[in-house]
Amino acid sequence: MTEKIHSCLAELDLTGRSFLTIHDFTPAEVVTLLDLAGALKDAQKRRAPHHFLDGRAVAMIFMKTSTRTRMSFEVGIEQLGAQPIFLNANDIQLRVGETIKDTANVMSRYVDCIMIRTFAQTDVEDLAEHGQIPVINGLTDSHHPCQGMADALTIREHCGRLEGVKLVYIGDGNNVTHSLAEVGAKTGMHVVACTPQDYRPDADIIARAQADAAETGATIELTDDVAAAVRGADVIYTDTFTSMGQEAEHDVRLAALRDYQVNAEMLKLAGPQVKVMHCLPAHWGEEITEEVLYSPNSVVFDQAENRLHAQKAIMAAVIA
Ligand code: CP
Ligand code: NVA
Repeated sequence: MTEKIHSCLAELDLTGRSFLTIHDFTPAEVVTLLDLAGALKDAQKRRAPHHFLDGRAVAMIFMKTSTRTRMSFEVGIEQLGAQPIFLNANDIQLRVGETIKDTANVMSRYVDCIMIRTFAQTDVEDLAEHGQIPVINGLTDSHHPCQGMADALTIREHCGRLEGVKLVYIGDGNNVTHSLAEVGAKTGMHVVACTPQDYRPDADIIARAQADAAETGATIELTDDVAAAVRGADVIYTDTFTSMGQEAEHDVRLAALRDYQVNAEMLKLAGPQVKVMHCLPAHWGEEITEEVLYSPNSVVFDQAENRLHAQKAIMAAVIA
C-alpha cells in the first residue's frame, strides 16, 4: 500500500509546483494525483503512518470563512507529519495593506507551502509568482480546484470510473462549476452545466476546458433545459445559489434559480442510479432539499471526507 504511494510520487514530478487550477495539470498528472489520494486514504484507514512531510510547515490563509477546507487541511497536514499554521483574515497584515509580494517573500522564509482561500484568482497567482514555495488554491471567486479533485475521487469510487460518466451540474455557474468542468475535461467525463442563461459559467474558462476535453474524449456542454440534462445522469451536482461575496444578491438569485433546485422530482427524472453531490455548505430548501441531501442517492459526506485525502495527495506531491 505504501508502495503505491511511492510509485505515484515517483511518477509525479510536481515538487515546487503551485496548485492554482486543475487546467494547469496534464490528464496523466490529474489521474496519478487521484491514485495517490486513494492510496493515502487506504493508509489512513489502516492507521499506517505516512509522515511524508515530516518537519515541514504549511500556512493556511483564510480571507473567507470555511468549515471543510480549514479542517481537512489542518488534519491532513498533521497526518503527513507537518505543522499547520492557521491565519484568518484578522490575524494577518495582508488584510490591512501589506502587499502580496512582501507577504509571499516573508512566508517563504518560514513555511514550505501556503494554502490560501481568497477572492481574486489573481491574488493567488501573485502569491505563487512572488513566493519561493508552492501555493495551493483553497477557493477563489473563480476556482475551487481542491474541491474538484475530491469530487473526481468520489465519483470514481461510486461510479467505478471517470471516463464516460455523465456529470450534471445544476444551478449557479460558479467557481465549483469551473473546477468540475476542468477536472471532467482532464478525465474524460461528460459534464453538463445546466444553469439559467444569466448564470452560466465563465465563457473563457469553459472554452479552455472544452479545448482540454478534445484531448481526452470528454465533453463540456451548457444548457438551461433541466429535464433533458438530468435524464440518464450518473451524478447530479449542485452548490449554493449565492456564493461568498454575493450575499447582497441573495433574493434575486433565489428567484432566478428556483427551478434549478435538486429535489425528489428531479431525481425521478434522472433515474434510480443517480448519485447526488454537493460541495457543502448546503442551504436546505434553496439549491437542494434536506430530503435529497440525506437520501440513499446522496454521497455528499463521502465527498466531504475526500477533501482530506485529495488535499493530502496534492501536498505530498508539491511540497519539497
Ligand atoms: N466545500 C467547501 O469548500 O467547504 P468550506 O467552505 O466549509 O471550506
Ligand atoms: N460557490 C461557493 C462554494 C463554497 C464552498 C462559494 O464560493 O461560496
